[in-house]
Amino acid sequence: MTRDTILAILDEAKNAPSGDNTQPWQFIIDKTDVHLFNEPEKDNPLFNVDQRGSHIGHGALIENISLVSAHYGYHMTARLFPDPATPDLVATLSFQEMEPKTSPLYNAIAQRTINRKPYAKKPLTDPQNEELHRAATYQDTALRVHWIENQVAIKTIGKAVSVNEIVMLEYRALHDLFFNDVRWTDADEQKHKTGLYVKTMELAPPQLAAFKILKNWNIASAVNRLGVAKFVASQNAKIYGSAAAMCIITVSKNAPEHSIAAGRLMERIWLAANGAELSAHPITGVLYLYQRIATGDHSLSSQHVRIVTDAYRAIQSYIQGDTGTIAMLLRIGYGGHPSARSSKLPIRLLSEKELAPKA
Ligand SMILES: Cc1cc2nc3c(=O)[nH]c(=O)nc-3n(C[C@H](O)[C@H](O)[C@H](O)COP(=O)(O)O)c2cc1C
Repeated sequence: MTRDTILAILDEAKNAPSGDNTQPWQFIIDKTDVHLFNEPEKDNPLFNVDQRGSHIGHGALIENISLVSAHYGYHMTARLFPDPATPDLVATLSFQEMEPKTSPLYNAIAQRTINRKPYAKKPLTDPQNEELHRAATYQDTALRVHWIENQVAIKTIGKAVSVNEIVMLEYRALHDLFFNDVRWTDADEQKHKTGLYVKTMELAPPQLAAFKILKNWNIASAVNRLGVAKFVASQNAKIYGSAAAMCIITVSKNAPEHSIAAGRLMERIWLAANGAELSAHPITGVLYLYQRIATGDHSLSSQHVRIVTDAYRAIQSYIQGDTGTIAMLLRIGYGGHPSARSSKLPIRLLSEKELAPKA
């Protein structure tokens, strides 16, 4: 396997989702192996509890690399966290020649993207359901997948996940981290190629105007007294509650390798959805704030702890009997074409020298 082939595979695979499009990954190509590194400071630290969000993104990337490699005629094997002394080394990937195999999931990698529009409340067709379920057969005993198609349940979950917006607009640290990640102009998006490209947020002109004003913390905190945060959440609840299905992935153990597995599974489902002309949208704020609370963090106010915990429990009531941690929640449905797509960074290669401990 040549270095050029490896680079070509990584370049196709890089269209993977990551929290706020941070793409917290760098690579070392070591002969025919690839070492994949996490950049722990990249993702929003309030959501990225123990790097779980970043690891889910890495899982999605690894799944893409596996699918692209098979298309090129290589079987990819991932050794996860091979060096306990280097926790940022997420995986060492190696490749063996095989008959080229192009799966339908591979064909969806280039088109895969988030769609934050409202979705039509039309049920999934049987073939779409079959595609999604086939993609969801990923072998990891720590994972469970739940499909919710009941419209009352979807609406309730949509309302629960919208509680994130209340905390985001009322809690200064989260407010500032969130708004700092927004790319407000095309030039800004092109310059960074990371962060939340404002056109992908699908805001109508009046919402966009309000959103720009809320960027200012003093204004946000003043208008919150008039109930603006709750109003924003109630508007978004309608969007979140518009879906043909919701897919919930749980992990029975919060170990990094299971977050990677959850990310691989999420990516397969997302690719199957986009391949079947369906849209997908992860909604994780409440889930990750709850994980923060569950790990003993006391930075949220008691009021926010209460509403996040209630929201998490409301979601949990739809996966009864499963006591695992909810790692991912995807809304899936008929959203049409998104208005814009996020950019992706070029493949960033680390040199061995950069890895050497600083003197
Ligand atoms: C772990 C994880 C959590 C995410 N959570 C959210 C979320 O709560 N809300 C949202 O709109 N997008 C969420 N996303 C989607 C990312 O924002 C999206 O993948 C990124 O902006 C890149 O866009 P793309 O998927 O179109 O390439 C999440 C993605 C990952 C991997």
